Amino acid sequence: MLLQSALVALGATIAAAVPALEARGNQFVNPKTNDVFQIVGMAYQIGGSAGYDPSHGKDPLSNGDVCKRDAALMQVLGINTIRVYNLDPNLNHDECASIFNAAGMYMVIDVNSPLVGESLNSLEPWTSYYDTYLNRTFAVVEAFKSYPNLLGFFSGNEVISNVKQGGTAPPYIRAVTRDLKQYIKNHADRPIPVGYSAADVRDVLEDSWNYFQCSIEGEKDDMSRADMFALNSYSWCADASFESSGYNTLVDMFKSSSVPIFYSEFGCNTPSPRIFTEIGTIYGDKMTPVFSGGVVYEFAQEPNNFGLADIGKDDSVKLLKDFQTLKDQYSKVDWKSVQSVKANGNAVKPPKCSPSLIKEKGFNNNFTLPVLPPNTKEILEGGVKPKPVGKVVKISDFKVTHPIKDVDGKAITNLAVKPLGDDVSNTAGSNDGAGSGSSSGSGSSENGDGKSAGFRSIAISGAAAGISMLAFLAAAF
Ligand SMILES: *[C@@H]1O[C@H](CO)[C@@H](O)[C@H](O)[C@H]1NC(C)=O
Ligand SMILES: *[C@@H]1O[C@H](CO)[C@@H](O)[C@H](O)[C@H]1NC(C)=O
Repeated sequence: MLLQSALVALGATIAAAVPALEARGNQFVNPKTNDVFQIVGMAYQIGGSAGYDPSHGKDPLSNGDVCKRDAALMQVLGINTIRVYNLDPNLNHDECASIFNAAGMYMVIDVNSPLVGESLNSLEPWTSYYDTYLNRTFAVVEAFKSYPNLLGFFSGNEVISNVKQGGTAPPYIRAVTRDLKQYIKNHADRPIPVGYSAADVRDVLEDSWNYFQCSIEGEKDDMSRADMFALNSYSWCADASFESSGYNTLVDMFKSSSVPIFYSEFGCNTPSPRIFTEIGTIYGDKMTPVFSGGVVYEFAQEPNNFGLADIGKDDSVKLLKDFQTLKDQYSKVDWKSVQSVKANGNAVKPPKCSPSLIKEKGFNNNFTLPVLPPNTKEILEGGVKPKPVGKVVKISDFKVTHPIKDVDGKAITNLAVKPLGDDVSNTAGSNDGAGSGSSSGSGSSENGDGKSAGFRSIAISGAAAGISMLAFLAAAF
């Protein structure tokens, strides 16, 4: 018993690379430095959404070697947060979570999955809101609550995509948010932000945001109020601008937000390859006072062609042109000044929940939420049984074992995750990809063809074609 707790304590001190962030007003804040945090995020779902199958005993954070490979590549890119969609709470995520933690990356976790019984039904949400569904979402909380690099949970992803769904789903999404926050309050030792990831459909976006951020009069601690709001936005295509992409209208809409706002997905891929000129704007003066950054969709290549890296059947990786282009765009940002803005301390008062807050006819404006379904109170209070437990573990070797090829097909050797110091999140330049991060120090470099050849700059090119959102939607879905 003594030995066990000593080991747990040891594990906790060895790899505490990132401090837990807090959502304060419309900002994510590092409580140790009072710096405002901008998400430089990556959607991470090896195998894609179709690859999630609990019967396989696999999910995107269950294979430590694969996470090491991808954490190293994302470190080279400059990523500080991953978003992971479909997770099995009963698998062990300790190695992956610890690797990303050591690499200075936070995790935003979706508690749902597309499987029946594991997410809300948009049009008939009452058929999907029951004890075993909530139990699964609580189990995801149990599985991830102890990792210091957990940034937050999404209680729903694109549950509302049109006004009809906006008529039915909002009270249920808000109820799930309430139940998750109550579970966290009862069973976690720190507040963990819970929010919603919206589809960027302008008919329902503003009402969704207001429905979830508003304050219900008399509700104790605003328990059902979202702590953050995010949107999946593909409106910046090719060489667009702040205005032509419509980012300006988003900034205008969200400038009064009482909760942090960020892109939970971005990266229009028409035309392809991408030029990622939105990076300079997302992390520029016009957006950072209102947005907390964004998550690029996505790391691994899938048939829908949004990937930065091709993953082979043998787990080898070939980097795609978009990887290099994105890296070049990140390298133009002055991260030191972007990530060192001091928190303003302003608690923005949320609007009061009232029917007049909702603008679109047909969107739900009733803030009476469904009550907890039968048999759920016991779980909410007593905890999930048996409950998954996650903990930070020591990673003894950070070297990547899989073959990696750069965009030109040249092998990249000696790649390793570079464990960062305490309280440091990853930033572009922390790992040059040359293997300097190998903690075991025995990395041989027999292959003398230039250690970091894979990461040299290439010129950005790309025709500036005007592609509309509709064309994108047509192409992608
Ligand atoms: C709740 O979740 C745990 C962990 O996944 C599982 O073992 C248990 O059977 C679930 N209980 C119910 C009532 O769904
Ligand atoms: C709001 O929803 C609740 C619960 O479904 C219902 O009882 C109530 O009648 C609704 N209020 C209005 C004004 O429709």
